[in-house]
Amino acid sequence: LTKCIKDIYRSPPCANSPISLKGWVSGTRISKNVAFVDMVDGTTYEDVKCVVRPPYLLPNAVKVGTSIKIDNGLWVEGRGKQKYEVQVTENSSIGVIGEVEELFPLLKKQHTEKFLRTIPQYRWRKPEEAAILRFRSNVETALVNFFDQHSFTKTHPPIMTSSDCEGAGELFTVEAASNASLDKCFFGKEAYLTVSTQLHLEVLCAALNRVWTLTPCFRAEESDTNRHLSEFWMLEAEMAFTSRVDQLTDFSELMIKSVISKLFSDFYGMGSNLLKTASKEQGASMLKRWEMLLGQEKWASITYTDAIKILRTAYENDDSVFQYEPKWGDSLKSEHEKWIAGEYFKNPVFVTDYPVEEKAFYMKINEGGNTPAPTVACYDLLVPDIGELIGGSLREEEYGKLCTEIERRKLNLEPLKWYLAQRKNGTFPHGGFGMGFERLLQYLSCKDNIKDVIAFPRTVNNCLC
Ligand code: 4AD
Ligand code: MG
Repeated sequence: LTKCIKDIYRSPPCANSPISLKGWVSGTRISKNVAFVDMVDGTTYEDVKCVVRPPYLLPNAVKVGTSIKIDNGLWVEGRGKQKYEVQVTENSSIGVIGEVEELFPLLKKQHTEKFLRTIPQYRWRKPEEAAILRFRSNVETALVNFFDQHSFTKTHPPIMTSSDCEGAGELFTVEAASNASLDKCFFGKEAYLTVSTQLHLEVLCAALNRVWTLTPCFRAEESDTNRHLSEFWMLEAEMAFTSRVDQLTDFSELMIKSVISKLFSDFYGMGSNLLKTASKEQGASMLKRWEMLLGQEKWASITYTDAIKILRTAYENDDSVFQYEPKWGDSLKSEHEKWIAGEYFKNPVFVTDYPVEEKAFYMKINEGGNTPAPTVACYDLLVPDIGELIGGSLREEEYGKLCTEIERRKLNLEPLKWYLAQRKNGTFPHGGFGMGFERLLQYLSCKDNIKDVIAFPRTVNNCLC
């Protein structure tokens, strides 16, 4: 591989040594005596400033977006803020690899995110857009390290499945496109794209004790909001011999804080990558958010019942705060979640022990308690601006109780038989959670729309390429 810009800034060559570079033009300024070309190559947010003297050495075709190569440039100390620059002189060559058309959309400087979403083949070439993709990669690396340090094994559960983990009926069906000659479906039974890998992860948990995964998940939800995707990445973790919800909430908090502490520590990765390309305003909100997140000793944790009390008090004072009246037994609407985290706690908050009817069949039912109806040993992590970031619970480990619950809910038992069988052999208390990876990225980058933290967003009526 030829040296990329990131390699070069990591260990800069000696001043006055020759250098060759390949990349794309991110800006040009041409005057009578000299031309300046800014060059990026995608490996880092940093560009290389090239000074072309005499300016006629610069081919006419060089515009924003052109791919170019420089041979035998001179790597010298720069002036002012610029630590280094590359001088292109009669002894060097600067040539075009690939030209751009007159109508190349990135020739224009300012674009809205909405417009950029319509040109998915180009948008990520903008340095400030590329930053979020490097950020994704950096956050994933931080998570890989975190789980490794905590003795978890990363596993690879299937994406095609015959079970509906959440029972919410938001499944995409899988079928072979060339199925015409078969008189039954490809797998001999209905198959779907996974909505959550949890059921398979629970199986692996019995073998490996602490397991996690980061996989695509698919939900045919028709709501086109700023926090929903039809295809998103979910981080899921499952841990054996866990019998209290606070073990799970403490662990979730530790996980997110470990990512945030990385934002501040690694110059080349994480935080600086985003901050250097963000607008002043966006950068300030990100820094403020990260500091807040690390600043508070421990995030608050309240029960669903308390959350309803808090919401009701606000609603009774002023019923224009919410469109939907908060009532015990109803789901927390997105507006309620955002208000509790954003307005009331002004930080992330765990909400535990939701009513049984609001959650999936596998959650452990709490015993006792004086709530209007039974609750489950579960939690959601709510964060400002977004609402739910994590959903997790203790899992019911008793075969009989699981069967009773499946029957009570009138769920189809047949596709769950494989899952239930394991509870008759060496069952064990365990729990876990799922975190929307894009929601985490959206939260940390203070982006308004989840569609701007994934390279090719899919939502209802939108599978552009
Ligand atoms: O709360 P959910 O539905 O939980 C589960 O699927 C569990 N089986 C996970 C587990 O315990 N292993 O989804 C988990 C998280 C949500 O908190 C949210 O962050 C994210 O996944 N999520 C979505 N993100 C983007 N677009 C969507 N349509 C999402 N649906 C859920
Ligand atoms: Mg949930």
